[in-house]
Amino acid sequence: MSVDPNRPSAARIYDCYLGGRHNFAVDRAMAERALALVPEISRIARANRAFLDRAVRYAAGRGIRQFLDIGSGIPTEGNVHEIARSIDPQARVVYVDVDPAAVVHARQILDGDPLTAVVQADLLRAAQILGDPQVKALLDPDEPVCLLLVALLHFVPDTPELREALRTYHDTLVPGSILVVSHATRAVEGLADLYTRTGLSTVPRDEAELAGLIEGWEPVAPGLVRSPLWRPEPGGDADDPAGFALLVAVAERV
Ligand SMILES: C[S@@+](CC[C@H](N)C(=O)[O-])C[C@H]1O[C@@H](n2cnc3c(N)ncnc32)[C@H](O)[C@@H]1O
Repeated sequence: MSVDPNRPSAARIYDCYLGGRHNFAVDRAMAERALALVPEISRIARANRAFLDRAVRYAAGRGIRQFLDIGSGIPTEGNVHEIARSIDPQARVVYVDVDPAAVVHARQILDGDPLTAVVQADLLRAAQILGDPQVKALLDPDEPVCLLLVALLHFVPDTPELREALRTYHDTLVPGSILVVSHATRAVEGLADLYTRTGLSTVPRDEAELAGLIEGWEPVAPGLVRSPLWRPEPGGDADDPAGFALLVAVAERV
């Protein structure tokens, strides 16, 4: 698996926004250009992580003990396994990312943890991911799964392959499973152009477009909303209006 230090990576740029250390000069340069365009980008990234935290605790509160986090990035502090384990120490998590940089860092961070695994794969290869030996070893297909597609779908154009992959996840996971999504809106259009020019294709979407992608999943209250409106907690990061740039939903497989 080769990591190219001369090409910016979405996972490492995002790590820069969050103040992490898993990034190269090329990523920091790109993050600086992004910050010049959208100064609140780090706050948007933190609002996204705060939503992830609330959503994982919601799923764990519903009794879910297994998590499939696709487009997981570099496990920074407060990652899915840490959040889920604060509710059940036996929670199992498989992290999946297409980017070798994210996978290498994740394996270093999680090395030796028997209840987590890291798989390098593309979201679009749903059958490959669901049939991966590490996924099969950790996640029981007869039990509900929390599928996380957090800050991921805005990197994936709407194609028949995407629709097919999303249908496969929906149809394979048993009823009671939960989907967690967050997605950039056109509020960050300038940023999307910058990413696309750098070779990281980016597709902001609106409510109707995102609702179309998660069709078949039933959003729990308050539905498909801007991040600060999804079950905010007093004193939490959700108060930050920067999070309004993100659409989010937690939806159930019925
Ligand atoms: C902005 S990061 C989000 C990280 C984490 N999910 C979060 O929200 O904090 C987006 C991640 O999606 C990954 N990604 C982009 N396209 C992907 C694809 N087709 N399949 C799997 N991962 C993908 C990138 O490599 C990156 O690590």
